[in-house]
Amino acid sequence: MSAQTSNDHFKLENLFGVKGKVALVTGGGSGIGLMATQALAKNGAKVYITGRTSEKLDRVAELYNKNIEGQIIPLTADVTDKDSIRKLVKELESKEKVLNILINNAGVSSATQDTDQKTPKDLQKALFDDPSSSMEEWDKTYRTNVVHCFFTTTAFLPLLQKGTDAERAWSSTVINISSISGIVKASQHHFQYNASKAATIHLTKMLAHEIASSGLKIRINNIAPGVFPSEMTASESDDKQKSTLPKEKFEGKVPAGRPGKDEDMAATVLFTATNQYLNGQTIVVDGGYVLSTGSV
Ligand SMILES: NC(=O)c1ccc[n+]([C@@H]2O[C@H](COP(=O)([O-])OP(=O)(O)OC[C@H]3O[C@@H](n4cnc5c(N)ncnc54)[C@H](OP(=O)(O)O)[C@@H]3O)[C@@H](O)[C@H]2O)c1
Repeated sequence: MSAQTSNDHFKLENLFGVKGKVALVTGGGSGIGLMATQALAKNGAKVYITGRTSEKLDRVAELYNKNIEGQIIPLTADVTDKDSIRKLVKELESKEKVLNILINNAGVSSATQDTDQKTPKDLQKALFDDPSSSMEEWDKTYRTNVVHCFFTTTAFLPLLQKGTDAERAWSSTVINISSISGIVKASQHHFQYNASKAATIHLTKMLAHEIASSGLKIRINNIAPGVFPSEMTASESDDKQKSTLPKEKFEGKVPAGRPGKDEDMAATVLFTATNQYLNGQTIVVDGGYVLSTGSV
């Protein structure tokens, strides 16, 4: 049957299938990283998850390796340490011929400052003098949220390109998890976090540009989530490594009237990972938050 008269290439598994793909999710032991891990593993991908806390990763592997087509494999690593990233690459190279999907998701929140001051002195006190507003705090936030995305991406380039070479119609991909905090102009009381997420968005564009300019076929995009339940936003997770946020807190604040769900993130991750024509872009999944603030 000719391409014009066949509908087969429109089947879901042809469009969004990740069966047999090898993935690595940094910070895969909780929150958004765990949602991405489940979405990929349930649909047949072999997913390595990293984080600094082995208990979290082991619990995820134990709980979520059931009833899935793929596999979840824990590997402890600190992605703010170059030697730890080198070790991670070596470990992956010893186990796999390729890496198809890298999700740079690990991230940290930062200290908050009171930005609602009305005099120069008070604003100076809140933003400069306050001990929570330190150079170290900016460094720490950038090191995890921005620098890790740069170094894990560049360290895995050979294994990612091998993924593309092995399957020419499916280019390997990097997904950085940024945030709507890197898009809105409000500081949301944490300049360092929001500036770090804006930097992640720009880093994505630069990496996509430079990697394509070097002739490599690796797509680099970023997902900018609104509020999703996680250890970062709910301060904890339960014995299933899942977090909850009260829906009431979001009524009137987000057009969707609720925080994001596992399924919202899962669908976004599958779309971003599989769309072969998507490169250098920001995919915003926020229930309409950016739209409603009008503060871009
Ligand atoms: N949840 C939201 O509403 C939201 C919205 C927009 C963007 N985001 C972004 O989404 C990403 C995931 O955050 P989350 O909200 O899901 O929070 P989370 O539950 O705290 O997840 C972050 C994960 O990153 C890991 N991690 C932190 N530092 C690490 C390091 N140096 N090396 C390796 N792993 C590290 C943590 O594990 P260990 O502490 O065990 O290492 C943790 O499992 C972050 O980049 C965050 O900025 C979240």
